[in-house]
Amino acid sequence: MTSSAQPVTSLTDSFGRVHTSLRISVTDRCNIRCFYCMPAGNVTFAPREQLLTFEEITRLVRVLAAAGVRDVRLTGGEPLVRRDLDRLVAMLASVEGISDLALTTNGLLLPQQAESLRRAGLRRLNISLDTLNEAVFQQITRRQGVARVLAGIDAAIDAGFDQIRLNALAIRDLTESELEPLVEFAASRGLTLRFIEYMPLDADRQWQPDRVLGGDEILRRLRRRFGELRPVPPPQPSQPARDYELVDWPVTPQGRGVDDGRPRPLPRVGLIRPVTEPFCGACDRLRLTAEGTIRNCLFSDAEWDLRGHLRGGASDEAILNEVAQAVRAKAAGHLISQIGFATPQRAMFQIGG
Ligand code: 5AD
Ligand code: SF4
Repeated sequence: MTSSAQPVTSLTDSFGRVHTSLRISVTDRCNIRCFYCMPAGNVTFAPREQLLTFEEITRLVRVLAAAGVRDVRLTGGEPLVRRDLDRLVAMLASVEGISDLALTTNGLLLPQQAESLRRAGLRRLNISLDTLNEAVFQQITRRQGVARVLAGIDAAIDAGFDQIRLNALAIRDLTESELEPLVEFAASRGLTLRFIEYMPLDADRQWQPDRVLGGDEILRRLRRRFGELRPVPPPQPSQPARDYELVDWPVTPQGRGVDDGRPRPLPRVGLIRPVTEPFCGACDRLRLTAEGTIRNCLFSDAEWDLRGHLRGGASDEAILNEVAQAVRAKAAGHLISQIGFATPQRAMFQIGG
């Protein structure tokens, strides 16, 4: 080893947070236009040649796995619009040290791709489902398609993933009526559903604090309908979600995937509360944008370019040093809802959810 600096063996920031989780955006493109993420029209996407290749992504993951990264989550944009994504999944599934490989999708392309992704070695899926109602779906996404998302969820269940979770963004004056039906839908299929608070990451910069449907209010509504919600202790302190068991749920197994008559564990509902209860203190996540820059936080505009290194013949050590710098520069946390908070330059689809 020729470096004068100490070799990087873990990605620990100046607050002692150890970074073991990497979110990789594989594209900034998407087949719908959720208002909380993308602009309605005139979207500027990154030129294709600027997207990291599967080989470049895999090399990076190998380098970061050697420094303690264990979890990889593929995101977008919509990751399933990236051609041959199953090939990347297979490449990443065989990287030594990566123990958890997951993907977050809007579900629209799952009817075609669920099986090949599962076969390529993907174990876990997060599917976004904000509503079961087509009219609300269109208000959110500016496109049609809730039936196709539901077909995608069924395809994922049939493909036999180890775990499928549903994520629902909760937005005031828009999705209040959706909360209970979503819980019933998820519980009847044995899937965990998590409600996420709306963050200021929309391209149109329309976010307002009063559009955030906060976790406390969601809990109040769900208790009114479903009775006791018993908190489940988080398996890892870095897990952003707080999960609850629906203690009073009538446990008559029914529905797709749960119709073999065996008793099932109690259904779970979770809350992800980045706005009303930030979880920055336990953050272990790094983000790789589709164009190959590292970000240490959704809400920081600072980026470290890895594509230049990858394409300029840099050593693994030099690449790791660049990432270590990004980690060292990480701030304690974001300041959403506080005076002086500045919306990040890039919107969600350009960062990766
Ligand atoms: N606030 C919170 N979550 C968001 N997502 C997209 N935009 C936002 C936002 N502004 C979530 C989507 C999806 C994941 C990719 O990111 O709901 O589940
Ligand atoms: Fe597409 Fe996801 Fe953004 Fe919606 S939130 S527009 S599905 S990338």
